[in-house]
Amino acid sequence: MTQPELGVCYYPEHWPEEQWVKDATDMVSAGLTWVRIGEFAWSRMEPKPDLFDWGWLDRAIAALGEAGLKVVLGTPTATPPRWMLSRYPDMLAYDAEGHARKFGSRRHYCFSHEGYQKECARIATALGERYGQNSHVRAWQIDNEYGCHDTTLSYSPAAQAAFRAWLEAKYKTISALNAAWGNVFWSMEYGTFDEIDLPNLTVTEPNPAHVMDFRRFSSDQVVAFNRVQVEALRPHTSVPLIHNYMGRITDFDHFAVGADLDIASWDSYPLGFLEDRSDQGEAFKTEFARQGDPDFQAFHHDLYRAVGTDGWWVMEQQPGPVNWAPYNPAPLPGMVRLWTWEAIAHGADVVSYFRWRQAPFAQEQMHAGLQRPDGEDANVMAEVSRVSGEIANVGGAKKTMAPIGLVFDYASAWAWEAQPQSQSFNYFRIIYDVYRGLRRLGLSVDILPPTTESFSDRALVLIPGLFSWTPELLAAIEGFKGELVIGPRTGSKTPDFQIPTSLPPNLPHFDTRVSAVESLRPGTEIALREGGAFQLWHEFIETTETVTERTTDDQPAIVSHERTHYLAGWPDDAAMTRLLSRFAQTADLSTEPIPHGVRRRDWGALRLYMNYNATAISLHGYTLQPADILLFRGDTPIIFPTQATTP
Ligand code: GAL
Repeated sequence: MTQPELGVCYYPEHWPEEQWVKDATDMVSAGLTWVRIGEFAWSRMEPKPDLFDWGWLDRAIAALGEAGLKVVLGTPTATPPRWMLSRYPDMLAYDAEGHARKFGSRRHYCFSHEGYQKECARIATALGERYGQNSHVRAWQIDNEYGCHDTTLSYSPAAQAAFRAWLEAKYKTISALNAAWGNVFWSMEYGTFDEIDLPNLTVTEPNPAHVMDFRRFSSDQVVAFNRVQVEALRPHTSVPLIHNYMGRITDFDHFAVGADLDIASWDSYPLGFLEDRSDQGEAFKTEFARQGDPDFQAFHHDLYRAVGTDGWWVMEQQPGPVNWAPYNPAPLPGMVRLWTWEAIAHGADVVSYFRWRQAPFAQEQMHAGLQRPDGEDANVMAEVSRVSGEIANVGGAKKTMAPIGLVFDYASAWAWEAQPQSQSFNYFRIIYDVYRGLRRLGLSVDILPPTTESFSDRALVLIPGLFSWTPELLAAIEGFKGELVIGPRTGSKTPDFQIPTSLPPNLPHFDTRVSAVESLRPGTEIALREGGAFQLWHEFIETTETVTERTTDDQPAIVSHERTHYLAGWPDDAAMTRLLSRFAQTADLSTEPIPHGVRRRDWGALRLYMNYNATAISLHGYTLQPADILLFRGDTPIIFPTQATTP
């Protein structure tokens, strides 16, 4: 059982040196124990090529460390300095329109550029040599937010050359590639690997198998890029290596990057994400504008808990209005405390706020910090101090396995982007719909990677939308004793992106075939006999197994064989809640219908209720004001609502 901790992101290079000691002392007074620095400071670490200036960083680390803070030191590879571009004019990424993405912001590099990869190894090695044994440096962050600003996919000459080499290593012969891609179609056959371009700027859609391999390749390039720095740092340090991932980004396989690191962290901006990345519609955005989508944070906490091999953190927690969403409201008072507690109830080891002080200059001058640009505390500082006191009293909870597993597979996201078959089919969205449905029943969930070899003794596992079976999942299913829910679209392709000749779902011991599929426009939903409807997606089924639900026009909606159930469509919210409670019941899980806008999370002995509503609600005899929480250890309430009216 570890005691959760709090931290903050700090940029000593933005402030006069005389201020560092006071800042450090103030951080400690606020109850913070971690501070992340350095991740954008390359132009100060190495102002001229091969000319390092470590003096300021030595003193900054000393000032923070001597005040009692543990330092996370970032490698600055998300922001190569301008001289780097003069050294490698061809290092930039290219967008799908074939334009170079220029210097003047950040992340201006192509993952495939070998010269830049060597520079990253060089700076990471130099940092490792200098600070690897520094007692204040207690963790490292490699780069910053891979893929941010749409940077995973690059259509540069460097990417093209690397893609050809990747294809040749995979297929060995061009005829094997032609067969796997089905290039006989439209006379797309190639004579040599050198003839293959990247799949952009084609007349109409490129071959989805070509796109799929480009997506796999692009993800592998992120993994390889990260590994270069892991290998540079490991010989010099034994403290954990971390990366900070983002919300709703599926462009690369985070599980694969995470396998080389120790801790997974993510950057949680609930209000920014609600405005920027939600499918839930305008009324929902208005209702939760100052609180955030009540499930979005939880989903990512669960996802990144699975990505981390040795713990997970929130590296950047929104503290006030951000600067990058279509609208940037301030959180309701209390929300920063709620978000912090929520992360802890999902097992976070550290929650670190972004950033210490609002910068008065450059791109993010409109982004709040814990302090205002004048150095005074922003209102949120009191919440941070409060939550740090509360955590000290409550402590942590032992890690536990959730009774429910939900498989999340990045490759499926790429597959359905390559071939959505409907403008509304989106892999993240179907996974998230299932996740939201489970949360409406008060259930806690573990996210599982597609490399999961055993579902252990979980009661219920769900695998919606999986494009192609992995050998590991097939093995896990074989030995599984709980309820298994698969579909729609699960197992509908071979790894080569072809329809399996035995037809989907292509699952042994399950005599069911998807004979045809259709996507549904809004207004053409297909009602289910027992309530709710299929929306967006529907499949026609041939089976000798038992049909356990039907559509109102008598087509199979769910087919079951013992404890395996195939879902022949995308349930709307009403059908989702009903079906998930049916599966939860057969799995012997006890559910709790949760009031609108409230969420529950169980973690070991802790049970947290959060009021995401902008209005007060009653729960278990208490009144919860907006942003209030109610925390139980076992059956005993240990944190009461702010203005508790005890039952
Ligand atoms: C994150 C990023 C930070 C900062 C922040 C602003 O995506 O890692 O550097 O830009 O957003 O919200």
